[in-house]
Amino acid sequence: MTVEKKLEDLKGKKEQAELGGGKPRIERQHQAGKLTARERINLLLDEGSFQETDKLVVHQSHDFGMEKKRIYGDGVVTGYGTIDGRNVFIFAQDFTVFGGSLSGANAAKIVKIMDLAMRGGSPIIGLNDSGGARIQEGVASLGGYADIFLRNVLASGVIPQISAIIGPCAGGAVYSPAITDFIIMAKGTSNMFITGPEVIKAVTHESVTMEELGGAETHNAISGVAHFAAENEEHTMALIRELLSFIPDNNMEDPPERETSDLPDRICEDLDSAIPDDPNHPYDMRNVIREALDDNYFFEVQAHYAKNIVIGYGRLGGKSVAIVANQPDHLAGALDINASDKGARFVRFCDAFNIPLITFEDVPGFLPGVAQEHGGIIRHGAKLLYAFSEATVPKITVITRKAYGGAYCVMASKHIRADINYAFPTAEIAVMGPEGAVNIIYKRELDEARGSAKLREAKVDEFREKFANPYIACEKGYLDEVIEPKYIRSKLIAALEMLKNKRDKNPPKKHGNIPL
Ligand code: HXC
Repeated sequence: MTVEKKLEDLKGKKEQAELGGGKPRIERQHQAGKLTARERINLLLDEGSFQETDKLVVHQSHDFGMEKKRIYGDGVVTGYGTIDGRNVFIFAQDFTVFGGSLSGANAAKIVKIMDLAMRGGSPIIGLNDSGGARIQEGVASLGGYADIFLRNVLASGVIPQISAIIGPCAGGAVYSPAITDFIIMAKGTSNMFITGPEVIKAVTHESVTMEELGGAETHNAISGVAHFAAENEEHTMALIRELLSFIPDNNMEDPPERETSDLPDRICEDLDSAIPDDPNHPYDMRNVIREALDDNYFFEVQAHYAKNIVIGYGRLGGKSVAIVANQPDHLAGALDINASDKGARFVRFCDAFNIPLITFEDVPGFLPGVAQEHGGIIRHGAKLLYAFSEATVPKITVITRKAYGGAYCVMASKHIRADINYAFPTAEIAVMGPEGAVNIIYKRELDEARGSAKLREAKVDEFREKFANPYIACEKGYLDEVIEPKYIRSKLIAALEMLKNKRDKNPPKKHGNIPL
């Protein structure tokens, strides 16, 4: 064969690989409202940056006539490229080839790119669209999944792992995305479940649609499995790009910085009146957060789940920061099981990846109730306490209003190694709210006065005057400063700057035992 012929041969093979399962199946993919694996990669990565690996891999199966059906690439496109000029590694399941199902060869491609991502020290992104285990391959496929799960676990806390779900994702296959740090689901075309509607019908006699069972809205609002619900695939890719802009390449790097024209000493005039006079009146904590952040921009994570805690990213003086905040607008900001889980996992991600934690606190305590107690609020609440306590990144806390009971300790208090603790003058720091406290400590007097409303009111006022303020905590050094809310931005930026070389560590150990 001449060199020219050889070059042509190579070109032909590559072109064939690029067609995946062929034109009719590509059309079917488009008709289903989905893009192909290659179109998705092109949409996600910087133009022209994609370098494909293992393009000519084929499966090794000889059963069920599979030896006659070999398609280059074998149902997954793998490689690397850049997003905003930064390296990322990627695999995109190709539904046009055996439904994107996972074969031994296909799993080996994913494992190879994950290993390369670990050595290269940059994020791995998985675009999931697959019928699950390649049925014709049996245990070779199951083994392939387990090989991927192991890599997910070993990569956890070393490189960021992001999963987009843009098609089916069923059975044990959901566990790879579940171990990754962020899951983005596209509305209407994605689903995740362990067993589908038909199996559920047979076993529990429940009727449920795929969308209700495991669609984007279900996993964003009800189960908390997903972190973002994207409108479509374009939005999915935009969310991945934006998310990456806040997080570093790996656990040894700092997050990227972005210049801003927003002055560090901008006065946040609106904040002086942001906290209502009535301590029981709700307000949206996100307004406080936005006011403080660069360009008033807050990138919220898990916005639809456990709305009583708000998490997400922003920048202060150009530096990436993670926000954890109680939300008085929902359940009065009380911490419950779901909020604790949501907050804890986020705090641990940010600690692993060197992103400073800014905590905004307005919490009346843990949510009372039999369902909460029986559901294990003790165990779940402990996760948040554990996560904040073990975190060694810069930790800055702002108490805007209530900091009651155990929740005071949990929400990055000075006692669990927060570096700087601020409070607004509206802060109330005590074991419990004035009404609850008076009912307990003046029970005898109130009983004797037959529950006199006047006496109760007087005692509540007295308690509020004495304890529902930041100054006792201040006297003890548990707070560093009570600040005028309008100066919050410059205070936060100064504290971050002071902490830029922070070094802290936990005692050497194999790993801790977080109460899961
Ligand atoms: C081999 C598969 C496949 C699979 C789909 N295909 N799933 N091939 N193994 N798991 C093939 C189909 O034969 C078809 O091939 C093509 O992909 C497209 O599939 P369709 O059914 O035509 O597409 P659609 O109607 O969109 O339905 C998609 C689907 C359905 C919902 C995913 O294909 C489906 O239910 N597949 C089986 C899902 C499943 O039970 N997987 C095993 C789960 S258990 P042609 O040649 O016609 O185009 C599992 C365990 C993992 O995954 C455990 C890890 C520990």
